[in-house]
Amino acid sequence: KQDTRIQRIASSIRVVPDFPKKGIMFQDITTLLLDPKAFKDTVDLFVEQYTGRGISVVAGVEARGFIFGPPIALAIGAKFVPLRKPRKLPGEVISENYILEYGSDCLEMHVGAVQPGERALVVDDLIATGGTLCAAISLLERAGAEVLECACVIELPELKGRGRLNGKPLYVLVESH
Ligand code: PRP
Repeated sequence: KQDTRIQRIASSIRVVPDFPKKGIMFQDITTLLLDPKAFKDTVDLFVEQYTGRGISVVAGVEARGFIFGPPIALAIGAKFVPLRKPRKLPGEVISENYILEYGSDCLEMHVGAVQPGERALVVDDLIATGGTLCAAISLLERAGAEVLECACVIELPELKGRGRLNGKPLYVLVESH
């Protein structure tokens, strides 16, 4: 049952060669979203993994963590906190810079969105080098939260991003080689 769901999810993801640059095999989850069964199975698998673990915060990474994070947060009764690219959030923020597979970037979180001692889950569509999730973990920990785990739909294991998460568990549905 689990395997059938994973297989459906894996085959619904479109791989686009040389996007956004030559040599990058872009993992396009918009085709997963076009298949309501695959989208529901994706959310359900995460909800099954995270129900009953005392998680009060689901933090989603811009942009595609904003697609998968909120339905998980609603289902497990947690708040949703957007981790955004620079200069998007209107309130006072804390920032973390990081290096990306193609370029460098920064994530920001609103001060006061998370209280010290809260239990957090970080959600994104994909882990490549792990730089983005590493920055997300730092933001939450600087705010005093405990990061229980990171969850992604897709992992690119060759890039060894898992090893950059300071020992945090990473749960992924699909590996792409
Ligand atoms: C992609 C992806 C992750 C990040 C993973 O985002 O959605 O957020 O890269 O890469 P890393 O593990 O090497 O840090 P992208 O840079 O395409 O930004 P976008 O979601 O704003 O388009």
